[in-house]
Amino acid sequence: MKGTVAYQRNGSRKGICRCSTTIARAEDRRKSCRKGLVEAIYSAGFLVLFLGSIEVGSGKSQAYTMNYITWEDMKVDLQKERLDLNEEQNRSRVIVVDQNSKGVSVTVQGAVDMVPLLNSQRVKVYIHPGIYREKVFVPNSKPYISFTGDENRTSETIIIWNDKASDKDNNGLVAVPRAYGMQAVALRLAADKAMLYKVRCYIQGSVNFIFGRSRSLYQDCVLHSTAERFGAIAAHHRDSQYDDTGFSFVNCTINGSGIVYLGRAWGNYSRVIYSYCDIDNIITPSGWSDWNQPSRQKTAMFGEYHCRGRGADRRNRVPWSKSLNYEEVKPYLNVAFVAREQWLRL
Ligand SMILES: *[C@@H]1O[C@H](CO)[C@@H](O)[C@H](O)[C@H]1NC(C)=O
Ligand SMILES: *[C@@H]1O[C@H](CO)[C@@H](O)[C@H](O)[C@H]1NC(C)=O
Ligand SMILES: *[C@@H]1O[C@H](CO)[C@@H](O)[C@H](O)[C@H]1NC(C)=O
Ligand SMILES: *[C@@H]1O[C@H](CO)[C@@H](O)[C@H](O)[C@H]1NC(C)=O
Ligand SMILES: *[C@@H]1O[C@H](CO)[C@@H](O)[C@H](O)[C@H]1NC(C)=O
Repeated sequence: MKGTVAYQRNGSRKGICRCSTTIARAEDRRKSCRKGLVEAIYSAGFLVLFLGSIEVGSGKSQAYTMNYITWEDMKVDLQKERLDLNEEQNRSRVIVVDQNSKGVSVTVQGAVDMVPLLNSQRVKVYIHPGIYREKVFVPNSKPYISFTGDENRTSETIIIWNDKASDKDNNGLVAVPRAYGMQAVALRLAADKAMLYKVRCYIQGSVNFIFGRSRSLYQDCVLHSTAERFGAIAAHHRDSQYDDTGFSFVNCTINGSGIVYLGRAWGNYSRVIYSYCDIDNIITPSGWSDWNQPSRQKTAMFGEYHCRGRGADRRNRVPWSKSLNYEEVKPYLNVAFVAREQWLRL
């Protein structure tokens, strides 16, 4: 993903971004996406899984019977894929997308549109290699969807789009916060539980380019700053000490340009942790910002643990940030941070 990653909405969204091979590039950083659950720019071998509960009339969320994700949810074998094409009964379980018309849909959105509303079983969307120029929107009324690419051609399935904040929406003009109308969100995950596995986790942007209220884990990601002068990597929004949210970056590589903050306190209880990261010399020595609200220094939780590289020097860090010890950082180091309710059974 290049651009911004946003985790929004209230409630406890949990996400994991565990990355090893692929994901994403936007054509340039002014372009990207705005709306929807997944508006991404993926490149292949990728898997995006959603496990959601949906809002029903009363506003209460209703849990489904299959309330967790397993490895099975990520597998699509070619045999089954063939079955899918020929046999009506399995058609709804695996939907093959192929630009060259060898699937049942030539677009990813076309496949999402085929998923029945309020599906209670997982539907796997198998996307053959190709560059899909479309903005993919998965509505929250379609909770069990996996997007899967070809495991052996991990850089060849790419979804790409080019919205920006100043574009006109069906509802009229989209609000333009600050700047020149060129900000854009590359991937927006508003799902309650979502996982990106074996994607190329490359997140690029300049100001607060990972933001929102979620509880999310970023493992083995590259966070690439394109700031010309100043910027910030993460803006985590947390208003209460009782919110179980936070951003945890583990074993990530941080590089690029500019002089950026590791994080800025959005809300009194913002929580951001970097562990085992390789941080290049692009971090402002003070490291963290209270966003001009000194009272947040007492309540924000900004921590670092065993990071290395020239940007990891903590000698001039703001004194209210923390050098964590192992006991303190342990809850943030792995998938247990986001999967406490056992929604991931891997
Ligand atoms: C649907 O796929 C399953 C394998 O997942 C297979 O066992 C079953 O026979 C298929 N059903 C039909 C009607 O082909
Ligand atoms: C990927 O490669 C492995 C090993 O060669 C093979 O077993 C598997 O079937 C391949 N998968 C696909 C989707 O072609
Ligand atoms: C850390 O990330 C790199 C890729 O950036 C990966 O090769 C390595 O295995 C990861 N280390 C651990 C301990 O997960
Ligand atoms: C940032 O780090 C990634 C992963 O190590 C590397 O591929 C990329 O070239 C680096 N970019 C810069 C500008 O150093
Ligand atoms: C944040 O803390 C300040 C200072 O204690 C307080 O005035 C403000 O109401 C708090 N904001 C929220 C949203 O709780």
